[in-house]
Amino acid sequence: MLQNYEIICIIRFKILSLTVLLTLFNSLMEVFKTIKSLQETLSVKVQNSTLGLVPTMGALHEGHLAIVKRAKAENDLVVASIFVNPTQFDKKEDLDNYPSTLHTDLEALENLGCDFVFVPTIEEIYRDNLQAETFDFDNLDMVMEGKFRPGHFDGVATIVKKLFQITNPQRAYFGEKDYQQLLIIKKMVQLESIPVNIIPVAIYRESDGLAMSSRNMRLTDAQRSAAPEIYQTLLKSKKLFESNDLQKVKSFVKNEFIQNKELRLEYFEIADSETLIAPSHILPNTRYRAFIAVFAGEIRLIDNIALN
Ligand code: PAJ
Repeated sequence: MLQNYEIICIIRFKILSLTVLLTLFNSLMEVFKTIKSLQETLSVKVQNSTLGLVPTMGALHEGHLAIVKRAKAENDLVVASIFVNPTQFDKKEDLDNYPSTLHTDLEALENLGCDFVFVPTIEEIYRDNLQAETFDFDNLDMVMEGKFRPGHFDGVATIVKKLFQITNPQRAYFGEKDYQQLLIIKKMVQLESIPVNIIPVAIYRESDGLAMSSRNMRLTDAQRSAAPEIYQTLLKSKKLFESNDLQKVKSFVKNEFIQNKELRLEYFEIADSETLIAPSHILPNTRYRAFIAVFAGEIRLIDNIALN
């Protein structure tokens, strides 16, 4: 015969096990391929919680993961998306060569406690209309990445708008590594009156200063050894910027790359941090940033730095 206190202990143990099981079940990351299944789950689980969205194209590195960690810290629930968006690629070979590491990506996201991952197919997102919407970004798309990659930002804004409409997050996180993209998304949100807070996240770098990028894994050993020069040049340009002599900074950067066998400069620009307009002279009370794009063989690397 069991004593009363033994019965109480057994009941307590069962309740505890059930709680542990329920917690485990709730913290298991869920992966969705369709809009419908994702929305069904979000409509049940997000009701009185905050949801943070982290859009990515996969091949996740520490920079992406730092964004997910930040989103986890600031929201009750986090949804990450992994989708290599065809409409933002201006070159087919760049799209074809985009790395894919889905299995390890999902493992890394699960380890961080990411709640939901959306991994749709191209058909799921674009149905039978694989086209970008066009937006008026108020000239933010006419310079730098927009100038060298025509149509790129319409493609980016198209997919990000779709992701916002599908997931309806309170906050969405974007890296300053793609600073122009961040401004474009803020502009799109304003144009479309989408109720989401856009949260910028600082650039995450390798220990030698190279900005982390999914493309870094495609660099040869020689290119990888040369690549930290990009950030080193940005740091030196920041120092030179103190002279207020824009031409001096620009010709310094050009010269730095002329001698370099592995890296070819595509552009170096100094621009207003909000409008991206290149100044003819430095104005007081204005924040500027330097932007750079460099080719290592066929691989295009970008970086930027706040100058003041
Ligand atoms: P992707 O290149 O995968 O980057 C996903 C997010 O991670 C972007 O917000 C990007 O700025 C950020 N990121 C990448 N490298 C970073 C680094 N070293 N430090 C900090 N943040 C970093 O950007 C895209 O995908 C796509 O254009 C996307 C927004 C998902 C739309 O398709």
